[in-house]
Amino acid sequence: LKLGIMASGNGSNFEAIACAIAEQKLNAQIQVLIYNNPNAYAAIRADAWNVPSVLLNHRKYTQREILDEKIVETLQNYDVNLVVMAGWMRLATPVLINAFTNRIVNIHPSLLPVFKGINAIEQALGAGVKIAGCTAHLVCLEMDSGPILIQAAVPVLPEDTSATLHARIQIEEHKILPMAIELLAMQ
Ligand code: GRF
Repeated sequence: LKLGIMASGNGSNFEAIACAIAEQKLNAQIQVLIYNNPNAYAAIRADAWNVPSVLLNHRKYTQREILDEKIVETLQNYDVNLVVMAGWMRLATPVLINAFTNRIVNIHPSLLPVFKGINAIEQALGAGVKIAGCTAHLVCLEMDSGPILIQAAVPVLPEDTSATLHARIQIEEHKILPMAIELLAMQ
């Protein structure tokens, strides 16, 4: 399994995948990290793991499709056969989705189909739910809506802030994202 990981920020999910591979819990290699924010900490993590990283700054592209063409070209150059959106904060267009049909997995910090979009944790706190969680799913055109692969639940505690709830959810993300990748390896 040859992974292309896409990240916009901290990259703790990138790290979890790299660790799962190093610990032989996941039979895969990370071919490349693609990141869109020049100061994404994920790029520093990639360096530390000797993974090549490619900056594709969305601000330099006038249309989403043109960014996605560059992404597809990069993934193909690195011989990627499974794409992982690990905190990738851009909407994907058909250019990317159709190039990797059913081969793009995303991690989202809610129990989908509730709380789609960028502020899932705040939505959960605002709704007063007592259980929150995360979802690894296949990416389709509609945001946060593709077939669900794995979910994990965590309690919401009365004193939670978005930071404390997010931290609790991330512990589970780091478990289920490598598991979801392994599931796709079998297909
Ligand atoms: C995660 O919470 C993920 O669910 C969301 O963005 C966050 C990325 O975290 N899509 P990290 O950059 O992997 O630490």
